[in-house]
Amino acid sequence: MTKLLALTDIHMKPEGQTIIGIDPFENFKRGLAHAIAHHPDAERVILMGDLTNSGTPEEYARVGEIIADCPIPVTLMCGNHDQRDNLTAAFPWASTDDNGFVQDAFVYGTTRVLTTDTQFGPPFVSYAHLGQYCDKRFAWLTDQLQQAKDAGQNVALFAHHPPMKVGFAGMDQIRMRDDTRMAEVLKSAGVDVHFICGHVHRTISGSWHGHGFTVVKSTCHQMPLALENPDLSLSTPEPAAYGVILLTADGIIAHSEDFDLAEDDVQPSADAMPDA
Ligand SMILES: [Fe+2]
Repeated sequence: MTKLLALTDIHMKPEGQTIIGIDPFENFKRGLAHAIAHHPDAERVILMGDLTNSGTPEEYARVGEIIADCPIPVTLMCGNHDQRDNLTAAFPWASTDDNGFVQDAFVYGTTRVLTTDTQFGPPFVSYAHLGQYCDKRFAWLTDQLQQAKDAGQNVALFAHHPPMKVGFAGMDQIRMRDDTRMAEVLKSAGVDVHFICGHVHRTISGSWHGHGFTVVKSTCHQMPLALENPDLSLSTPEPAAYGVILLTADGIIAHSEDFDLAEDDVQPSADAMPDA
């Protein structure tokens, strides 16, 4: 079994700035420290996009400050609140494909892990919160899926923007816009795919065209369960979380850990068991 740590929607801001009273720096620092302390056996930390709130060099520097001492290899992804050029300038070690998209692939056991770049553009459009997957990125994905098929691997497909609708009137409008093509490409590939996404700031799971999906909460602010409300800025200070993704020979398992609620000192409880 391989364990991956999935943290998303960090939304780093300049020093002294908060989001609905939450300090993104402190939340990410606390969440990553909790994840590392409780899962030192993880193979990789995947930061699934929206590393920053505005994509400025100052914000990336603050993310870099926190991940500098991470003892587990870190993979970066690009979200709608990032600026791809600033991200790759701040982290020259971030993996990019031949076309400059922040994408990477890893194989652990029988699973191929793909970390994809669903940001709109280039060119960068600061108000384009919509996700995009273009011809060049589909070519990369198609090749990766073929390699998975040839090797008999299943696929853990990390994407900041979910291609699927998840029931929010607002957020569904800014999902990955190329959902129809994505479904067709996966169907043609004929491999078993599980999506792990961010963007929505809420724990969600389900299936889409026969593929499983998991959406991981933000390390900062969350989306309230106001399904019909079209406002994209809805935010609530519900507990933040990170994902613990287990890759097994039988499939992919996704856990969510609310790091500020988690109890370290867990006791057995006879009350929880049926009476003898
Ligand atoms: Fe976000």
